[in-house]
Amino acid sequence: MTFHVPPDAYARFMGRFSVPLGVAFADFAGVEAGQRVLDVGSGPGALTTELVRRLGPDAVSAVDPSPPFVASLTARMPEVDVRAAAAEDLPYPDDSYDAALAQLVVHFMSDPVVGLREMARVTRPGGVVAACVWDHDGGGSPLSLCWDAARELDPDVVDESGLAGAREGHLQQLVAEAGLSDARATLLSVEVPFATFDEWWEPYTYGIGPLGAYIAGLDEAGRQALRTRCAERLLPAPFGISGSAWAVRARA
Ligand SMILES: C[S@@+](CC[C@H](N)C(=O)[O-])C[C@H]1O[C@@H](n2cnc3c(N)ncnc32)[C@H](O)[C@@H]1O
Repeated sequence: MTFHVPPDAYARFMGRFSVPLGVAFADFAGVEAGQRVLDVGSGPGALTTELVRRLGPDAVSAVDPSPPFVASLTARMPEVDVRAAAAEDLPYPDDSYDAALAQLVVHFMSDPVVGLREMARVTRPGGVVAACVWDHDGGGSPLSLCWDAARELDPDVVDESGLAGAREGHLQQLVAEAGLSDARATLLSVEVPFATFDEWWEPYTYGIGPLGAYIAGLDEAGRQALRTRCAERLLPAPFGISGSAWAVRARA
């Protein structure tokens, strides 16, 4: 899955959820002043922003394979060490960080175990490796309502529930396979308010992530049918959409 999309569009589609999630995830990972922390799969910087708020820009690094996200984050945070790289091949020496965090990334890694092992390699012994992924399998993703509506219209639709880390217990299994110890898991939840239906719907048409790609592949009638089915499932505006992510924290 590539994320060659405009950062502003990403912010409206997923950033609206990943910004508040970043606060809860940084708390869960125990991020506090004095640490050096790596944000793996930073995107345009939802979690990076929270890390910089806690640690200062010199103590934060960020990597992402998406060129527009790297360019945008570099422009917005010139003092942060931002690099184009994938989790599976991190451009840092061993033991460089007190913690390495991946927010909503493990399910997009080409090899999650190799990615988590790399995160452990660049983290000092005893430091923290943490990851979180929306609970797609349990219907707790902020995208679940739309995926459910899509499945009603097309029972063969392939959603994100089978992806790595998107079901209860799977992140613990992956960190164990990566050789990490002392794993602890939790479910992190956020809720985001929407003033109108279109404020919620429009970013789904930007082609971002697996769901955006699915919607972009529908014809106009299919898109309208999905939009209508979603509207039927939602409360009248204003409404809130919640999202829950499985999170794991382990020791390098
Ligand atoms: C859903 S976005 C999450 C971005 C950000 N962490 C956030 O919470 O908003 C997934 C991100 O993972 C990145 N990504 C995809 N494959 C990756 C890999 N193998 N290693 C690191 N990042 C990856 C994408 O480019 C994208 O920015």
